[in-house]
Amino acid sequence: MNNQDIVNEIRRKTDIVDIIGEKIPLEKRGKNYFGVCPFHDDTNPSMSVSREKQIYTCFSCHATGNVFTFLMNYEHKEFNQVISDLASRLGIALNGFKPRKISTKYDDWYNIYDLANKFYQNNLMSKEGLPAREYLKQRSIDEEIIKEFEIGYSLGERSSLTTLLTKKGYSLDLLNKIGLTTNDYDIYHNRLMFPLHDLSGKVIGFSGRIINNSKQNKYLNTKETELFKKGRLLYHYHIAKETARVSKSIIIMEGFMDIIRASTIGVKNTVATMGTALTSDHIKDIRRLSNNIILCFDGDDAGVKATLSAGEDFTKENIEVKVIELTDGDDPDTYILKNGKEAFLSLINNAIYFSDFKIKVLSNNYNFLSSEDKANYIHDVLEETVKIKDSIRVEIILKDLAKKFEIGYNTLEKSFQELKNAKTEKLVDEILSPVKTASKEKKDKYQKASLSIIYYMLNNPLVIDKVERENLVFPTEALRALYCEIVYFYHKYGFINEADFYTYLTDKRELINLLNEVLVLDLKPDINDEELYDYVKVIREYNLTNAIKRLETKIKETTDQTLQIKYAEEIRKLRIGEK
Ligand code: UTP
Ligand code: MN
Repeated sequence: MNNQDIVNEIRRKTDIVDIIGEKIPLEKRGKNYFGVCPFHDDTNPSMSVSREKQIYTCFSCHATGNVFTFLMNYEHKEFNQVISDLASRLGIALNGFKPRKISTKYDDWYNIYDLANKFYQNNLMSKEGLPAREYLKQRSIDEEIIKEFEIGYSLGERSSLTTLLTKKGYSLDLLNKIGLTTNDYDIYHNRLMFPLHDLSGKVIGFSGRIINNSKQNKYLNTKETELFKKGRLLYHYHIAKETARVSKSIIIMEGFMDIIRASTIGVKNTVATMGTALTSDHIKDIRRLSNNIILCFDGDDAGVKATLSAGEDFTKENIEVKVIELTDGDDPDTYILKNGKEAFLSLINNAIYFSDFKIKVLSNNYNFLSSEDKANYIHDVLEETVKIKDSIRVEIILKDLAKKFEIGYNTLEKSFQELKNAKTEKLVDEILSPVKTASKEKKDKYQKASLSIIYYMLNNPLVIDKVERENLVFPTEALRALYCEIVYFYHKYGFINEADFYTYLTDKRELINLLNEVLVLDLKPDINDEELYDYVKVIREYNLTNAIKRLETKIKETTDQTLQIKYAEEIRKLRIGEK
């Protein structure tokens, strides 16, 4: 059997309802099953799973796919891993199955980073590594942790790594490009080396820490490359994605050493940025791990600022994070060293909501002897409280506030309601703003027609035949590519359905995104000829208008009268053809 046959067999013998049902509770409603979508923060059952079509679709976050994409996303596994898991579950032998190679462009890069990683780790254990080992010992980092975090050491010579890698046949150009050398010499010297992994666990760069108190930068990071972007990287993510599920929470810290120290006491559901603020990419990746997100930044002013800013960023995404507050200039590393495991675990258990943290921090900005300051503070607290969804917590905060400032609860509650109503009105206005929706609808008309046609092609091969006979040209590159893939799949295998077509597209991200848009359209099951040709007409009209516009621009741009007449003639023909 070849790959596609094996993959098809596995998919056919697997029932998506069983597999998803094992992970999240599903409830049958009509033909389909419904459950709470695990791919976004939700409590409503917005994910629908179809036994008939063997696909799932979330009406809220638009996640959709087949059993393979579900397991890949839910368990953070690669395609090959999912195939082999399911095969062993079904007792299917994988003889003849060649693991799918995802990309080849970066294979050299990954090999080089791996070699460098091993080289640095060996150096640490060599004679030259003694000062680094002493340093680690003095910081209470034992050999087990060194292995776990693959900590290494770069040598003092000008080009020890460069020599090793060029001997293996890698060019200096490539080594310079991927950030291990500069001007043909090693970048890292006499530094502790921490490999940086991408989300799936592949090494894509390094951070080197000085081991003496020289004036150099404490950490020297690999420059940004096509693979390594600071705003994307989360240190320890590839481990945390497994552990966060078990611990049902994810803790965000500031530094490598904090992550490493926490790991020594068994707290491994942690990630850190590279000393930068959180980006929206970071937030997306983190929220995929858990709904229970805890910030544990340094116990100094900078740490408080970072906590406020990260907390706000999450609030904007409708996520209320929790906060562990350290004090006395401690960071998680020093706190754990001083106070031990139990103390830190109890900090985790007693993490407070971000809004409570913010209310507490706000009080530092005011002088409570002034009535004006008191009123401003109360107003700030109300602003915060409005964002809280849990009405019990709201009442607790208002009661505390009333008691603290000796104000009537009803006065506070009234101000609270006024503020809340004003906020809601503003929000509703924004959502209903007519200008935006109108223009969007117009622009989306041909897109909707195209997506609908594709939807019916996937559901009924007769539609494929009809559309082929129309010689229809879809208006965008991506739509045309998706159309070609469908036609190709259908003629090659003699059938088509969403679930198998998904598998077939595995590597083509852009097309999968487009296919996802198709599958969430929520259209009725079948289409008659009249409706089909209406869609075709919408697309033809769109193409025609575009063609005419292009010719009109050409006429304006040239001064050559013969050309102008030629273009005008083409426009006339197009217009006649239209009738
Ligand atoms: P920290 O100064 O808190 O580092 O900076 P740390 O990891 O706790 O290190 P120790 O305890 O001093 O050994 C937080 C993070 O900021 C980035 C690193 O990612 C670091 O882990 N950073 C810091 C840099 O990139 N460059 C620097 O020069 C300093
Ligand atoms: Mn530190």
